[in-house]
Amino acid sequence: MTTTSPVAAGAQAAPKHAGKVHVQTYGCQMNEYDSELVKTLLDKCGFELTADEREAGILLINTCAVRETAHTRIYARLGDLTAEKKRGSGRVVGMLGCMSQNLQDELLEKFPAVDFVCGPDSYRDLPGLIDRARTGGERGAAVELSEYETYEDIAPTRVEGVNGWIAIMRGCDKFCTFCVVPYTRGRERSRDPQGIVDETQRLVDAGYKQVTLLGQNVNSYRHDDTDFAALMERVAEVGIPRVRFTSPHPRDFPMHLLEVIARHDNLCKQIHLPLQSGNDRVLRKMNRKYTRDEFLALAERIRETIPGVALSTDIICGFPGETDAEYEDTVDLVRRVAFESAYTFKYSERKGTIAAKLHADDVPEAVKSERVTNLVRIQREIQHRWNRRFLGKTMRVLVEGTSKKDPTMWRARTDHNVIAVFRDPAIRVGDLCDVRVDEVTPNTLIGERVEIDG
Ligand code: 5AD
Ligand code: SF4
Repeated sequence: MTTTSPVAAGAQAAPKHAGKVHVQTYGCQMNEYDSELVKTLLDKCGFELTADEREAGILLINTCAVRETAHTRIYARLGDLTAEKKRGSGRVVGMLGCMSQNLQDELLEKFPAVDFVCGPDSYRDLPGLIDRARTGGERGAAVELSEYETYEDIAPTRVEGVNGWIAIMRGCDKFCTFCVVPYTRGRERSRDPQGIVDETQRLVDAGYKQVTLLGQNVNSYRHDDTDFAALMERVAEVGIPRVRFTSPHPRDFPMHLLEVIARHDNLCKQIHLPLQSGNDRVLRKMNRKYTRDEFLALAERIRETIPGVALSTDIICGFPGETDAEYEDTVDLVRRVAFESAYTFKYSERKGTIAAKLHADDVPEAVKSERVTNLVRIQREIQHRWNRRFLGKTMRVLVEGTSKKDPTMWRARTDHNVIAVFRDPAIRVGDLCDVRVDEVTPNTLIGERVEIDG
């Protein structure tokens, strides 16, 4: 395996690429964002992009390694592509993203369909990797992690919409023992705040109504004297109607940030605060660096500083050695905090992580499933209660599209990130309007549009 030399973002390659490129994305928002960067990078180098996978001569699959579900789906896909290649499709297949970084050799060995792998810090190598695959060269791997790469000079090719993502930092230095990200995305590095402000302004000019600042651990953001709270303030002042961010770490949470959020109307009153577990021994084994009491105190402080704020979270069930009693501690904390929403996952062992090296994945699959199902049920009740507070109230919502269940209704989102559905022929996607809530379910507010004077 060899590594190609980097290609500058602005380089003009000879237009010899006969095939069109299709980029397919699995996993998190950061991956969606990276796919947008890759599209710009390839476009600048003379490649033609297509949204239709069937007409693509070059298929790039941006992968996720964080949990087992994405892994299983991608492996199934690679099985299909290998069969397709055996039938002589001649299609170039490149694997990007976290799984490529983590399982580079395994991917190349197991799947003859894969022409090259390219990790999240090596996307400037893509034109070279594609060219070599097209000319029948050696299968390549570009998997160097960088301390500096932020793709600052590349503007993402965005899908038109209401929300634009902006990566403000890359990598993670936290090393939670279950998590593969520090190995697949490397060390933390923050982008220049001016670049982020300029990108927000470009979103406003293009008609976007919301920006979401992305980072694996946004409260570690720092660029010279600008910390995350100062960055949020600068982005708020650009004047886009809504600003969100994801995710902060509950450890070292900047209090100053809460005051900034409380002070600015366009900073959404919703914070995603990943809990992972409510038991101190498990938290220690996860290397989360906070206790359940500290988490509770933080949640209370957030609620005092930003009245009415919505908190959402991530939880892992069945971490190695997690007993029934330890799991019950998580349930108890979930009830006490009363999150507005929670993503609940079964622990899945990830290759190369500290947990994989130190602890046997010993909680039976059936127990993990039972714990997740139970927690999801409890969370639904909490959410239903949370949503009932809005009955009869009028909420400002941002319209994102039509409802999946009923296409005659608009699907919109409150500042708290709760879905609201309503009907009104005069409304368009991207409108901000007011909806009176008449009915609620655990996941949705159902209402009617109202005009508010002034
Ligand atoms: N197993 C299960 N869930 C995981 N997550 C990250 N790594 C794992 C793993 N190995 C979850 C965490 C994280 C979210 C993005 O994914 O809850 O916050
Ligand atoms: Fe993974 Fe922990 Fe970093 Fe989040 S903070 S990306 S869970 S190591």
